[in-house]
Amino acid sequence: MTVLLEAKNLTTMLRGKQGVVTAVDNVSLRVEAGRSLALVGESGSGKSMTCNTLLGLLPSNGRVVQGEVRYKGRDLTRLSHAEMAKIRGREIGMILQDAMTSLNPLLTIGDQVAEIFRVHRGIRDKAELRRLSVDVLERVKIPAALERLDSYPFQFSGGMRQRVSIAINIALSPQLLICDEPTTALDVTVQLQILKLLRELQQQRNMALIFVTHDLHLASQFCDDVAIMYGGRIVESGPIADVFARPTHPYTAGLLRAVPSLGRYEKRLEAIPGQQPGLTEWPQGCRFAPRCPLATQQCRDQYPDWFEWQGGARRSACWQTMQMWTQSAAPRGNETGDADADAAVNGAARVRREVA
Ligand SMILES: Nc1ncnc2c1ncn2[C@@H]1O[C@H](COP(=O)(O)OP(=O)(O)OP(=O)(O)O)[C@@H](O)[C@H]1O
Ligand code: SF4
Ligand SMILES: [Mg+2]
Repeated sequence: MTVLLEAKNLTTMLRGKQGVVTAVDNVSLRVEAGRSLALVGESGSGKSMTCNTLLGLLPSNGRVVQGEVRYKGRDLTRLSHAEMAKIRGREIGMILQDAMTSLNPLLTIGDQVAEIFRVHRGIRDKAELRRLSVDVLERVKIPAALERLDSYPFQFSGGMRQRVSIAINIALSPQLLICDEPTTALDVTVQLQILKLLRELQQQRNMALIFVTHDLHLASQFCDDVAIMYGGRIVESGPIADVFARPTHPYTAGLLRAVPSLGRYEKRLEAIPGQQPGLTEWPQGCRFAPRCPLATQQCRDQYPDWFEWQGGARRSACWQTMQMWTQSAAPRGNETGDADADAAVNGAARVRREVA
């Protein structure tokens, strides 16, 4: 698999009334060409801030203080605003939760779609711009696209506005599309239509996706890989089927137990007790410790190191997982091949049993 984008130790700080706080903390993630990565976590865990950091779209009080975002051999965090503006839209698109926030209410749909061809391709001919705009609106299945060019966003339904936003973002065939909860504001039927459309476009163009969602069902149906975020950090990641079948981090296990008929937690549904702390309230050690049934003094004192297996495809940041995995692996006296996989499965099973 070709790695399209890779973030390493990405850290973003925000300056506010309460001083400087860390919103994205040491985040590392990898998106492979043509694959989709789900970014999952509770509200406030830093999903949007991570996406905005990847695309250089931070608020004026935000700054990347550490790490890099490798894309086609370049570190995006080091590019100028002008260089990033060329990459956004042309190579990497971004769709937001509510298309109303990304569309200009004062411009017609036609003008907003044409703008992308005007800015990135330098096309000035009005007839050509209209033709290209109709073409891309038809690709996202806007009915009567030619007649709708002169409509304004408020004349479109929420689902149709989201299609327009997708059209603008795929117009130049980007290799990566970042979708920040693109369907949360839509009803279930429209949500499914938009997801189907995204999947079709992804397959037609071998486009990679970062798909931000709270919905674990959706993520499992739609994505290949998953990264679970908590308190500005990624706490567990890997191929989604494996992570959901064998979660190793107590937070992932807790999320799955709160979802009906997902994974193996069909009998009893439970919310994770407590709340995710705000940016200024993060505890010193593991950020999940105040809510974690397995927390020890070590967890409260020290942030867990990353623990990797399956050649780095699976990662977890949890002291207990690391300990259980090590104990499971130890009797075999080696850390390769099947024994490696067995140990991970045994360790994961113990974490789940003890969280339950
Ligand atoms: N401009 C800002 N200034 C200060 N803090 C901010 C700003 N934007 C976001 N935050 C804080 O950063 C943290 C991460 O926010 P972010 O929007 O990335 O969360 P999220 O995981 O996307 O949540 P949601 O699921 O609700 O969209 C939150 O605590 C949020 O309050
Ligand atoms: S490091 Fe400790 S507190 Fe954190 S998730 Fe693991 S067991 Fe729970
Ligand atoms: Mg968000």
